[in-house]
Amino acid sequence: MASESNPLDIRIDIARAKAAAVGSEHGVTPAEYAEIEPRVLEIHRILEQERRDGKYGFYDLYKDTDALEAVKAAATKFAAFEYENLVVLGIGGSALGITALNTALNPPFYNMMTKAARKRRPRLFVMDNIDPLTFKQMMRMCPPKKSLYVSISKSGGTAETTSQTMIVLDALEQKLGKDGVKDHLVVITSPRVPGAPKSLLHPVADEYGLTSLDIPLNVGGRFSVFTPVGLFPAALLGMDLDAIMAGCAAMDARTSAASLHDNPAYLRAATQYLLDTRKGKVMSVMMPYADALRDVADWYRQLWAESLGKRLSLDGAEVFTGQTPVKALGATDQHSQVQLYAEGPNDKVFNVIEAASFGSTLKIPANLTSISELEYLRGKSMNKLMSAELRGTIDALKDASRPVIKISLPRVNAHTVSQLLYMLEVETAMAGRLYNVDAFNQPGVEAGKIIARKLMGA
Ligand code: PA5
Repeated sequence: MASESNPLDIRIDIARAKAAAVGSEHGVTPAEYAEIEPRVLEIHRILEQERRDGKYGFYDLYKDTDALEAVKAAATKFAAFEYENLVVLGIGGSALGITALNTALNPPFYNMMTKAARKRRPRLFVMDNIDPLTFKQMMRMCPPKKSLYVSISKSGGTAETTSQTMIVLDALEQKLGKDGVKDHLVVITSPRVPGAPKSLLHPVADEYGLTSLDIPLNVGGRFSVFTPVGLFPAALLGMDLDAIMAGCAAMDARTSAASLHDNPAYLRAATQYLLDTRKGKVMSVMMPYADALRDVADWYRQLWAESLGKRLSLDGAEVFTGQTPVKALGATDQHSQVQLYAEGPNDKVFNVIEAASFGSTLKIPANLTSISELEYLRGKSMNKLMSAELRGTIDALKDASRPVIKISLPRVNAHTVSQLLYMLEVETAMAGRLYNVDAFNQPGVEAGKIIARKLMGA
């Protein structure tokens, strides 16, 4: 177990992923950890150097107080309009971060709450697809006068986001006139600096006088949750940006350690890598036992898949690497997936996430006293049942020789969720190097984008 001390720290428990728990055919042995340790330490030195060289901007976003102030100022300006709806137009890394933050940090059924219960903050719609039926319905539900649209694209040329933006612009211009657009549309894209890709959102911002926020050039889409991509909508939704930044700082202090066993990101990366490459665990299931964290699993799915799924190694050899990430939800998927997980192919590692406290207790009433079989539930709490189900699943998986890594959040809040996301980003950077691939590009995604554009006559 990595060393943890602060009660607000998230905790990692790899005991059930070790050979001592699930056998050496399925779990990592002490010799395998000892063997990989020098490599982890060598990669740590490379990553630290590249971090200092500014190659990977995601590490230090929480330190950029100017960018944070710019986000807060823009959010304050637009919050004054008290929009009914906040509509994010974006896809992949431009959409999954704010979706994860919203589900984690806003109350369940947030969009269905009254405006007063939402503290006069907008409902959130994240439009990360181009299904015409869904988009039309969103436009009906989020009419121009009552909505702020935020078009997010690092490249500024993604067909899905561009087409959405064109439709929204047309509706805004028709209803509000050209001058009215700037109060209802914000763009978040690459900065206008030499060497930056030519974002098509720049001329849009110029033509309509739009507020434009920058995504640093050295931060890729799936690593951009702590840039304006995640933070601007988060601020409009009333999330505590300072607590988010503090969570990143707290995790950076832990994931900067040049240590395999005391660095939770490195320990997770090495464990998952060894389980994949030595024990045939070609899938990585993330299964939070808290509805609030269900979209963190979706965010992680993209991060792990796009970063590690690569044809070429860093040396240019064909390697076809990558561990397939799978998202699940406890306890729901115990009644859908766990049969397969426990008895199907032993080809998965399970990342089970626990919310140690839900911040609220729901008691099961001591009723139905005539049914003796219900005695085990009477007077207990739903919290205790959730905890028992989690424990039951991880122990049953372990007993079936399936490796499990447990992640515990003391509770789900801005400080702990940002720790979790930050840790998973650092873990992915380390895993990329262990697999010897570039975790920060996505040539396979680009190839599809180019073909689709050609089919559209570009
Ligand atoms: O992680 C990535 O880089 C991708 O998933 C992108 O976020 C996604 O393709 C959208 O790209 P863009 O933000 O350039 O519109």
